[in-house]
Amino acid sequence: MSDVIWGLATSHVPSIGAAMDRGMTDQPVWAPLFEGYQPARDWLAQNIPDVAILVYNDHANGVDPDIVPTFAIGAAERYRVADEGFGRRAVPDVVGDPDLSFHLLHNLVDEGFDLTIFQELDVDHGFTVPLSVWTPDPGDAWPCPVIPIMVNVIRYPQPTAARCYELGKALGRAIASYQGARTVGILGTGGMSHQLAGSRAGFINVDFDLMFLESIEKDPEKLASLSREELIRQAGSEGIELIMWLVMRGALSEQVANVHTAYHVPASNTAAGLALFDNRVAQTD
Ligand code: DHB
Ligand code: FE
Repeated sequence: MSDVIWGLATSHVPSIGAAMDRGMTDQPVWAPLFEGYQPARDWLAQNIPDVAILVYNDHANGVDPDIVPTFAIGAAERYRVADEGFGRRAVPDVVGDPDLSFHLLHNLVDEGFDLTIFQELDVDHGFTVPLSVWTPDPGDAWPCPVIPIMVNVIRYPQPTAARCYELGKALGRAIASYQGARTVGILGTGGMSHQLAGSRAGFINVDFDLMFLESIEKDPEKLASLSREELIRQAGSEGIELIMWLVMRGALSEQVANVHTAYHVPASNTAAGLALFDNRVAQTD
């Protein structure tokens, strides 16, 4: 039996990583965002799992945009940090856990989720920025091995929110059946509302984001019922990244305890949000 001990939802705006890499986090424009993260970072530092699963999307950096899997999983020993055009971020490469990857893959395929397998994968800001949000000073290594689960949000048609939520539930069952007493953290990344191009470039919807932050804890079914068109209308063409939060939420228990929520507008052209949940409430009741 393995237990999911926490779930972390966080935006992955590349400039958040750049601000950290360049020592700009104390500057007035950035300080409020990073102050908002601190309670979550403090709690996470006290609750390091044996392994983490990070649900993210690639932005045509690790994967050719002509071949985009709807869902995929990394099964490698290591994942390199991608060069997105400015050199690789000076953060550690990611250590994987192939044994758990193949366990998850096997169980998910048996449940009807036919994930593509990556034996080699460079991970971009969609992956490394959430790791930096979690662990600002990793030193030589991130706190634990991390398994990438990739979701297509950049090519139409993206998977539905409902399908992502169901994937999360299947993932939760697969984790639970993993032998060995292991603790697991799960990250759902991307969002919140933003649109980077087109006539609505710069679009942000604070009301929608605040609704999403509350409902991801209390009423994920409501979010899972949103169509892709509605998500894009309400959250912007890149705001559909929020479907990845539902994979994370599906892997948690129905009842979770909110540890910390943070929301800051804007980071780059994006609404940056974070929500951290302790998944051990139901088990200890
Ligand atoms: C930006 C890029 C992203 O992938 C994202 O999710 C948010 C913002 C950006 O380039 O500003
Ligand atoms: Fe993105």
